[in-house]
Parts: sequence; C-alpha cells; structure tokens
Amino acid sequence: MYDKKVEKVLITREQIEKRTDELAKRISEDYKGKRLIMICVLTGAMVFFADLIRKIDVPLEVDTIVASSYGSGTTTSGSVRISKDIKYDISGKSVILVEDIIDTGVTLKTLTKMLMTRAPESLRVCALLDKPSRRKVDFEGDYVGFSIPDEFVVGYGLDYAEQYRNLPEVCIYRPDGE
Ligand code: PRP
Repeated sequence: MYDKKVEKVLITREQIEKRTDELAKRISEDYKGKRLIMICVLTGAMVFFADLIRKIDVPLEVDTIVASSYGSGTTTSGSVRISKDIKYDISGKSVILVEDIIDTGVTLKTLTKMLMTRAPESLRVCALLDKPSRRKVDFEGDYVGFSIPDEFVVGYGLDYAEQYRNLPEVCIYRPDGE
C-alpha cells in the first residue's frame, strides 16, 4: 500500500488487464478497415491509453487533448476549456476518445460536442471507469471498463492533487484517512 489514505484496492491489475483485453478485442473488430484515430484525454487517461492501444490490432494513429473543467471542490461549473487541442484533422476519420473516468459527464459531453463540429466519420468514447450515480448531464460511454460506486478513486492514472497516478491498481482514497 502507498499510504493509509489509500484505503483499499477496488480494481486489481489482473481485472484491469482482462477488461482491457476485452475492450481492445471489441475495438479491433469494430474498426477493421477504418481509418482510426485514438485520442487520449490527458492526463488521467494516459496509463489506460498506453495499455489499451498496445492490445488493439488494427492500424491507428494517436493524438492527445487536454481539457480543464472549472468548478470548486466536487461541484462543477459546467465550463470546460481545451488547453491543448488535437493535432490531426479528424474530418472523415473514425475517432475514439479515451478517458480514465466518466464522472459528471460534463468533460466528455463538451469534448464530443466540440469534436463533432469537425465532421468525423464517427466518434465514440472508451472509458476505463464510469460513475453513473454522479452524472449531471446525459452521457454514456460506448466502451466502458467498469461501472463503479461513488467512491473517490486513485491510481492507474487517476490522481488526488496530482499524486498516486503511478499506483498500478485502482484504489479507493479517503482524504481524511489516517
Ligand atoms: C478527470 C477525468 C475526466 C474528468 C471526468 O479529469 O480524467 O477528464 O475528470 O469528470 P467529469 O465527467 O465530471 O467531467 P481531471 O480534470 O481530474 O484532470 P486529469 O485528467 O488531469 O486528472
């Protein structure tokens, strides 16, 4: 364990590996013969993204985007700003946006709406984690790893105050834990 605030492992390395295999297999089947661009939503998705793309066996290109949402604490103002855009022209391409977690849904709702204005052939979302009970806007991922309860999670790319991204598992975090 990292420290006592990291209370317990919610999703093990083995579970992540198995589910990532399944998602990659589905994506490989769905995108045969397509011109696939996979976009990593930084920073949280980077670990999942790196594992996922190496399991996909159709040709693909990778790109990254950085989005910041404005709000205080656990509330969101509903405003998302793109601080680093993608480099590719996605017009006519098949695009998958890869996220670590869908929480309120505001980030992905905003990003997908913005990217759809660039006329991709298709746009889907792959997220490792989904917290449906936290949703503030209507949004569903197309490829989802695990649906999880409303617990604060860290590890495997996810942070608390920029820490814990390097934990190999998804863990429950209690900021007031000893
Ligand atoms: C997290 C996560 C998603 C977003 C999901 O990013 O990576 O992008 O929040 O939340 P939402 O569904 O409520 O919009 P965060 O802003 O923590 O940045 P990070 O990826 O750099 O950790």
